Amino acid sequence: MQKIVFYSAQPYDIRFFEKENSSFGYELEFFDVQLRSHTVQLAEGADVVCIFVNDHCHAGIIEKLAAQGVKLIALRCAGFNNVDVAAAAAHGIGVVRVPAYSPQAVAEHAVALMMTLNRKTHKAYNRVREQNFALNGLLGFDVFGKTVGVVGTGNIGQAFAKIMLGFGCKVLAFDVVANKDLEALGVTYTNLPDMFATADIISLHCPLMDSTRHMINETTLATMKKGVMLINTSRGGLVDTKAAIHALKNGQLGSLGIDVYEQEEKLFFRDLSGDIIQDDTIQRLMSFPNVIITAHQAFFTQEALTQISNVTLENVQAFFNGELRNQVKI
Ligand code: NAI
Repeated sequence: MQKIVFYSAQPYDIRFFEKENSSFGYELEFFDVQLRSHTVQLAEGADVVCIFVNDHCHAGIIEKLAAQGVKLIALRCAGFNNVDVAAAAAHGIGVVRVPAYSPQAVAEHAVALMMTLNRKTHKAYNRVREQNFALNGLLGFDVFGKTVGVVGTGNIGQAFAKIMLGFGCKVLAFDVVANKDLEALGVTYTNLPDMFATADIISLHCPLMDSTRHMINETTLATMKKGVMLINTSRGGLVDTKAAIHALKNGQLGSLGIDVYEQEEKLFFRDLSGDIIQDDTIQRLMSFPNVIITAHQAFFTQEALTQISNVTLENVQAFFNGELRNQVKI
């Protein structure tokens, strides 16, 4: 039976994968460290490495994996910007991913960030626990009737757009391909400049690519409505964080909710509560009262974890049966 070595494995990964594996029977070995040049040797003897968002899979690492006999890189996530797919192909290593796992999980988390920023429930919770029942500083706005811009209407953006329609919002969308079903439901496709000029809330759901890196930057932020709310549950690199901080300081950006962060790989998925954080940018972000940061937890629901482990193991099974399933191609 083939062996799968897991990097960046958290206790919940072990729990869900072991449960799902009872119907597959692979040999599983879990490591909590990230895949890096100095940890690649842990995959010795593995047929498959199973990695997550902040594992590195550049050409040098892929060469070492190939030399160790690894045949497949199984991403237990949707994004694959951390894998050099061309290098994997050159070494005859397959790359598979989980293209969609409960898109609702991520869309609903984007809504949670939006509503927390708007109605300040995080502050209200702490206040009431301190017997402070005053409302000063908790003023929000009706989401009903507002204009919401959705960038990227794939699985997640689509789910988010539908929720926003349910809130009674005017939904504008931008994507390289328009989704006819969304249009039929009342979503209007537009270009980014028009969306930026009119949206009260903007939510990012497109992939991180060279063409989308820092799509939210000093120039684009300046074209947005003053006080706009920006939500990013996609990938940190879509936003130039320093430009966002500048826009928060001068009020151009009214509030920011992020589940992803450009430099997250040194921080997220770890308990650093006893450490001195060296990243001054996130420290500055954390100091704003109108910024909510969650640590890449948008996907984190029971339904999503069940789907992730099941689809990953099915991808592995299909690969060894010679079938093309959820393969990432160049
Ligand atoms: P998807 O592949 O279904 O949809 C992405 C959409 O973006 C597609 O419709 C595509 O045409 C569109 N797109 C491509 N280039 C674009 C551009 N330049 N401008 C606007 N749209 C563009 O992907 P899905 O499942 O909806 O995921 C979206 C992103 O969410 C992923 O790329 C991933 O980075 C992120 N994600 C975050 C999670 C979290 O826990 N925070 C969990 C899962 C995904």
